[in-house]
Amino acid sequence: MLTAVRAPRWINTGLSVAHGVADVIGLTVRFFHIVFGVAWIGAIMYSVGAVRRALARMDPAARKETMKHLIPVVTRYVPGSAAMTILLGAILYLYLGGFNPDALIGSDWGRILLVALVLALIAFGIGMVLGIGSAKKVLAHLQEESCAHGPEVGVLQKRFNLAQFIVLGLGLWILALMVIATEIH
Ligand code: HEM
Repeated sequence: MLTAVRAPRWINTGLSVAHGVADVIGLTVRFFHIVFGVAWIGAIMYSVGAVRRALARMDPAARKETMKHLIPVVTRYVPGSAAMTILLGAILYLYLGGFNPDALIGSDWGRILLVALVLALIAFGIGMVLGIGSAKKVLAHLQEESCAHGPEVGVLQKRFNLAQFIVLGLGLWILALMVIATEIH
């Protein structure tokens, strides 16, 4: 069970104003961390909720053409926003924790964020190997002159969808941890 322990005073809240001056670094990193987090998990949510269903309603030729254009964009956009979310999150974590091990691993706040960091790295790994890896193989098949690997492509698409669901599930757990961490800070 989580105990709502207030962070000690030496934790830099990012919003505490030492001398009446706004903490621009903390706010800027927090802002961009949230922007990239929205870009990453929002893209997965949109893909699961809208793109996947729209593709299923297209005729095979239209679906193939759409995927040929979509995959090269997705395979750059999603890993890029995921990496930025994790990088900025880790920077924010170290910064708000004042680089102090007592705060970073010795407080509920720090341990919650550490769990979030591990979950985010797992989500990133699954997304890269199972999701992006499968998508790139699908693209290679789509670009073949006359591809006779329908069943293989079907398996790859299922793997891609599975990766999306896993990353979305982990992403929502991570988001919940973010809210709890901010709340007990
Ligand atoms: C799926 C990935 C992630 C998403 C969508 C995300 C999103 C967010 C959001 C929306 C907030 C603001 C929460 C609020 O104001 O209630 C936040 C805060 C924060 N996030 Fe993340 N985040 C993610 C991953 C990470 C990771 C991997 C770290 C690294 C430890 C991290 C570190 C932080 C920190 C330190 C804060 C500020 C907490 C505080 O104010 O006490 N985030 N994040």
